[in-house]
Amino acid sequence: MTLKPSTEKATLTFSDGTPAMELPIYKGTLGPDVIDIRQLYGKSGKFTYDPGFLSTASCNSTITYIDGDKGELLYRGYPIEQLATQCDYLETCYLLLYGDLPDVKQKADFVKRVTSHTMVNEQMQFFMRGFRRDAHPMAVLTGLVGALSAFYPDSMNLHDPWQREVSAIRLIAKMPTLVAMAYKYSVGQPYMYPRNELSYAANFMRMMFATPCEDYKVNDVLVRALDRIFILHADHEQNASTSTVRLCASSGTNPFAAIAAGVACLWGPAHGGANEACLNMLYDIQAQGGIEKIGEFIAKVKDKNSNVRLMGFGHRVYKNYDPRAKLMRETCHEVLGELGLHDDPLFKLAMKLEQIALEDDYFVSRKLYPNVDYYSGIVQKAIGIPVSLFTAIFALARTVGWIAQLNEMIADPEYKIGRPRQLFVGAQRRDVKAIATR
Ligand code: CMC
Repeated sequence: MTLKPSTEKATLTFSDGTPAMELPIYKGTLGPDVIDIRQLYGKSGKFTYDPGFLSTASCNSTITYIDGDKGELLYRGYPIEQLATQCDYLETCYLLLYGDLPDVKQKADFVKRVTSHTMVNEQMQFFMRGFRRDAHPMAVLTGLVGALSAFYPDSMNLHDPWQREVSAIRLIAKMPTLVAMAYKYSVGQPYMYPRNELSYAANFMRMMFATPCEDYKVNDVLVRALDRIFILHADHEQNASTSTVRLCASSGTNPFAAIAAGVACLWGPAHGGANEACLNMLYDIQAQGGIEKIGEFIAKVKDKNSNVRLMGFGHRVYKNYDPRAKLMRETCHEVLGELGLHDDPLFKLAMKLEQIALEDDYFVSRKLYPNVDYYSGIVQKAIGIPVSLFTAIFALARTVGWIAQLNEMIADPEYKIGRPRQLFVGAQRRDVKAIATR
């Protein structure tokens, strides 16, 4: 989108004799204004320095808005609380991709388009065989998603809107199939083909838990819980994996390769890997003695030399409360109730840890609250999803957000290949000496 500068301007002055510059300011519909520094290098010979993008908007976007102080998350203007309680995941996908919620006919058409692409090329299972059975599902998924580009050469051109649309539908439709295949492969069970009469979440659960000798009885509470996990993880503006997808696609690579890059980035424990890290943390505390050991664990978390963090707590943007966590907490209690797991020692430990951390001054004063992953890990564990698959499920849900962001970037006439600059602090020019004299 071509932005119109506001009447306000920023003036940048230098103490080294470089002439002062006026920089345009743009106002968004919500959130902080931005100062346009694109002319800075050309006019002053200087770069800006912002590792970690603490003060840098990398793009303009119409998709997702987060107000970290208010604890607000909007997809295309709609509050996450309304979407999570009044819409399903595929409606949310439609919203993120096309800008508004579908009506009845648009929804039926979209569901039909997605479900007609749920199968993967039969050859994919032979590709799977190359992996070790004990490979981490995210290692497998990164490979599988990247490999889609080897199977669907007819929808690889990012600059062709029709091909982008086909690859978007393919990716949304096939991710559950691929994640379920990664799981089945790890446990040595036959793959289950998708069943298109089931909802998106129910179909995924069936592909996970049914076997050819025993079908899976769909439980509505659990299906709703999983669907909510998908909605809450569908997009989160310019986080690390989304920025990775944008940067990767900015080179003009194909959509499958760009989404594979997003999957790889999401794997990290400070991002999508947090739900897995959180459950592993609970197992560790459990192994060391359970609830009685929470005090010792919290003391380690507070000790700056220990490098231990309370996983599932804290967020770069939400410094008040993660609105997704509130919804996931509700779902967590619903699922534990449905499955009669409120007295399970691991879940009791999780609830006690949450309570203690919420009352502890270390966390309160730093505005560290449980994030969505604290509860989504517990919900997934209760449903029977293995811990090592949690991040793959996050990737499944986030795929639509990555695609929506990628499409927005490519359709923007102002888009350029992403190419950050640097402050070089290494050796100055020097000459190579003959090896004998080094
Ligand atoms: N446990 C203990 N202390 C923490 C934690 C934590 N989970 N998170 C932050 N802190 C402390 C940190 O030590 C620092 O203290 P001090 O001011 O005394 O040095 C202060 O809080 C600020 O921390 P920060 O590292 O500057 O905060 P950040 O905004 O850069 O980090 C975070 C955000 C998510 C990486 C971090 O909170 C964290 O590592 N959390 C655990 C991992 C996690 O749950 N990640 C999932 C995020 S939600 C999923 C997603 O959207 O991807």
